[in-house]
Amino acid sequence: MRIFITGAEGQLGKALIKELLGNKQKFEFKLMLTVINEVSWNSLYNWMNENALLDERAEITALDITDFYLVKAAIENFVPDVVINCVAYTAVDDCEEHEEEARLVNETGAKNLAMAVKALGACLVHISTDYVFDGNGTIPYKEEEITNPINAYGRTKMLGEKAVCETLNNYFLIRTAWLYGEGKNFVKTMLRLAENNKVLRVVADQTGSPTSARELARFIIYLIQTKKYGIWHGVCDGETSWYEFTKEIMRLSGRDVEVIPIKSEEYKTKANRPHYSVLSNEKMHKETEFGIKAWEDALKEYLDSLKL
Ligand SMILES: NC(=O)c1ccc[n+]([C@@H]2O[C@H](COP(=O)([O-])OP(=O)(O)OC[C@H]3O[C@@H](n4cnc5c(N)ncnc54)[C@H](OP(=O)(O)O)[C@@H]3O)[C@@H](O)[C@H]2O)c1
Repeated sequence: MRIFITGAEGQLGKALIKELLGNKQKFEFKLMLTVINEVSWNSLYNWMNENALLDERAEITALDITDFYLVKAAIENFVPDVVINCVAYTAVDDCEEHEEEARLVNETGAKNLAMAVKALGACLVHISTDYVFDGNGTIPYKEEEITNPINAYGRTKMLGEKAVCETLNNYFLIRTAWLYGEGKNFVKTMLRLAENNKVLRVVADQTGSPTSARELARFIIYLIQTKKYGIWHGVCDGETSWYEFTKEIMRLSGRDVEVIPIKSEEYKTKANRPHYSVLSNEKMHKETEFGIKAWEDALKEYLDSLKL
């Protein structure tokens, strides 16, 4: 299988590289790993070297997915069976003041990839977010539910979803949430704050499903070996609040820190966040044999890996 991964230097990109090159897979593959520029090229190369992942099955190249002609040329040149789009403008608060820039990456970038993939008859894995929902519900969101984003990031991601679904038939559109892996993320921020603070005040009225990039990467690798195209939710099983999540991070990492629950109004951010953005894994459990970890187990595995 010829796999073209964009945004290879991000959290999900690195998790995919580790799963594919660091573990035995049942199928043979070649990888084209794309990063935004030469600086990222060097940094990904060094990371792969440090992690003993440099491998003749993988090549790295620079590609800005907002440029259609570059995207088309790179994809035509590699002739992939599948393109996995891990690129996104993910800074949720920055999106409020830079919506057009975010839209260029999250919508135009997705559209460019979808058009190039369509011309080759390949398939596209595109990743989206729980923030396409408004969070006014009280039970987990299913794939077919109506989207209604309440912030700029969610709007641009929703437009990206639309671009993919309207351009292609052969796509896996996978919504995930509260992702952590190798890169900046909530778990690392909390661990860093715990170094200098005895008390952490954390929002308790936003509920979601923390998801390790490794578990999501495993789900993607499972799906691309099938023809189960369509929309999927892919999150670790279970739900929690940022507050409870932080308590578990502190407990599992043995930090002696008091965690105090606060309301969203007490922690002002530029972007509004949905109160309840839990994604239902029911389709995954009913229609596949794939088993995903509960968020608590995935978190433990992640914290153990940081200690290494
Ligand atoms: N992180 C979360 O909590 C979360 C939650 C729900 C859904 N998701 C979705 O999950 C997916 C993966 O997220 P992630 O956390 O792995 O993201 P990430 O770590 O922020 O990685 C995104 C990568 O895309 C690169 N990039 C940005 N603009 C680009 C462009 N125009 N062309 C090429 N590359 C570009 C970034 O490079 P620079 O760093 O140099 O800009 C970065 O390496 C995304 O679709 C995201 O929307 C994430």
